[in-house]
Amino acid sequence: MATSTIANPILKVATRHMTTDLDLTTGEAAALLALAAQVKRSPRKYAHKLTGRYLALLFEKPSLRTRMTFELAIQQLGGGAVFSEFNGHRIGDREPIQDVARNLERWVQGIVARTHDQRTIDELARWSAVPVINALSDLYHPCQALADFFTLQEKFGELRGLKLAFVGDGNNVAHSLLLTGARLGVDVAVATPPGYEPNPEVLAAAQALAAASGATLRLTHDPFEAVQGAHAVYTDVWASMGQESEARRRRKSFACYQVSEKLLAAARPEAIFMHCLPAHRGEEVTDAVIESPASVVFDQAENRLHAQKALLLMMLS
Ligand code: CP
Ligand code: NVA
Repeated sequence: MATSTIANPILKVATRHMTTDLDLTTGEAAALLALAAQVKRSPRKYAHKLTGRYLALLFEKPSLRTRMTFELAIQQLGGGAVFSEFNGHRIGDREPIQDVARNLERWVQGIVARTHDQRTIDELARWSAVPVINALSDLYHPCQALADFFTLQEKFGELRGLKLAFVGDGNNVAHSLLLTGARLGVDVAVATPPGYEPNPEVLAAAQALAAASGATLRLTHDPFEAVQGAHAVYTDVWASMGQESEARRRRKSFACYQVSEKLLAAARPEAIFMHCLPAHRGEEVTDAVIESPASVVFDQAENRLHAQKALLLMMLS
């Protein structure tokens, strides 16, 4: 996990953060998935583990799943959360981000932030003496990826050797799936339209993780090539939050990248369909696919709760 020591002179011990997927070591990511399984099986055992611990939730963008599951997770562990919505504003608009961090650290034991710019999360982490967790930025969605690989592990038992195909925009969710998948030994293929490929720096970091784990990564513009041999076919919206003005143009560019029954049938016979949600039926996925028995989208949503409980136990205990 990222650490902050330099910025705050009164800080004695390095604070761990999860600003990107890169902040968890491979051992920590595997331990988190194992803990999530235990927490899911025996929630009562963990009911008082974070008594008296509070989270600040700072959200610059809308949320259903992330907000609900963080609030419920901390409450079910005995703690509490305070939500602050920055609708239409940025966290640093009213006062410097470094001051926001140094106020919050006096009141709460953790900061969960959903931002437009990754830089905002990095800056919060630089100044905060309490852990900062990325709840989605323009570049990453690490909490989503943790829940997704937990879901894959539940469905298939062993992650190593699985293949996940992501079809659509090379966005924050694709980045986190590449990084965490490569780390955990899952082969990841990404099919995007030309011009919408994943960020090259994120890709390079994922390649380094894949080299260490033995996973393979593949980029293509052909969705049928990507899904070949895949255990999971994953998609996300074509225009992410903050890209609403590009929606019409993107609908044209992405028209051939819809996850349809035909595309899903080109994956393995037992392949599952995954989506972080919210979904735009009729755009990135057909109604038939998202409502099909192959769809695990609500299991993913449920697992956000269990995976984030495990994350909070690891970061705030
Ligand atoms: N998948 C996800 O992060 O959903 P929300 O935007 O509703 O939090
Ligand atoms: N890529 C999407 C994910 C939403 C959970 C977005 O950033 O809007």
